[in-house]
Amino acid sequence: MSMLLSTADYERAARRRLPRCVHGFVLGGTEDGASLRENRRAFDDWQFVPRGLNDVSQRHTRATLWDTEYAMPVGLAPTGLTALVAHDGDLALARAAQAAGVPFIISGSSSVPLEELMQAAPGSWYQAYFPGDRERIGRIVQRLQAARVRTLVVTMDTCVAANRENNARLHFNIPFRLTPRLLLDGALHPRWSLGVLLRSLATRGVPRFANLYEEIGTPITVEPPQGFRTGRDQLTWDDMAWLRQRWDGRLVIKGVLHPQDAQRALDIGADALIVSNHGGRQLDGTVAPLHALPAIAQAVGHALPILLDGGVRRGTDVLKALALGARFVFVGRPTLCGLAVGGVEGVRDVLALLQQEIDRDLALLGCAAPDAVHAGLLRPHPRAQW
Ligand code: FNR
Repeated sequence: MSMLLSTADYERAARRRLPRCVHGFVLGGTEDGASLRENRRAFDDWQFVPRGLNDVSQRHTRATLWDTEYAMPVGLAPTGLTALVAHDGDLALARAAQAAGVPFIISGSSSVPLEELMQAAPGSWYQAYFPGDRERIGRIVQRLQAARVRTLVVTMDTCVAANRENNARLHFNIPFRLTPRLLLDGALHPRWSLGVLLRSLATRGVPRFANLYEEIGTPITVEPPQGFRTGRDQLTWDDMAWLRQRWDGRLVIKGVLHPQDAQRALDIGADALIVSNHGGRQLDGTVAPLHALPAIAQAVGHALPILLDGGVRRGTDVLKALALGARFVFVGRPTLCGLAVGGVEGVRDVLALLQQEIDRDLALLGCAAPDAVHAGLLRPHPRAQW
């Protein structure tokens, strides 16, 4: 992996390693991909104005969230259907996060049982796709409590399935079916086939996914069962307030872009919020999380930690988000690309790259720690228009 020097290198390598339909699913967005593009572009709209001749010899990258100190202010966002990238991919992500000392958010669409993942990485957070039915929510909450989950993330930007046209164009099916096209794709990507298909067949059959119709977006060639409804389009802030009464762990709302929703999260007693547009995988044409951040920071101030994901690929991206008011950021695709290229080691390598970049960039910015980064070290790019 020596010539993999950046997360972009990992992305290129993952594109070569994965069948087209799988990397289309992982790296793609919805409709015209406007949200996806904007997530990256937003980082170029800000420039550093660094300070020099500060003693940064004792610097570190550590960051504390609530009562836990992490190795850096970067964690692994929840990603469903990870089994498509690597056999037992969720376990590999959990182990890599645990070894790197960063938080891992278990996806509600993971294919490894949450209890197993909590054992591999005991501090993991859990992301739920809740139905609009309180009795079912109550049952999920009980299971989380039994598994000793302390941090529950509720994703609020998936009330209906997304329009992922790229999946349809690439004939992407869930459950994964061995079509002639896939067999050909598999033959052209033998390492992936050996790793995912053959090992899955040997252990438990072709991978099946827990919450099939919840993450995949519009089911494309496979119709959902007759009458299937997630009920997520009924979920409201009242349900969140109700949940707050029943869940004594930390509650995090993921998918906030509007300052008034940030205020609602604060009002119902959330412990944090994640500014996110689901990595450009839900509504197309949204504001980029980085651009949504300043108004949200202004709305809720320091009343609760603001976390962010979407398009973070470099140490400099992390520091720009911190300067604009985020306490912590998460990455989705970069660690999946690490997983595709090198399993647990690949994920660890991606996290190590980000940590080295943060360390170097902090020094070059004149800061000895992530919490020393502030808005005065940034200015809008002169050509930025918003
Ligand atoms: C996701 N994301 C996601 N979010 C969530 O709340 N639950 C989930 O199950 C998933 N599944 C998922 C699968 C895949 C393949 C991707 C790429 C993303 C969204 C994810 O948590 C996060 O918001 C984005 O991935 C962040 O953007 P970047 O870092 O991928 O640009």
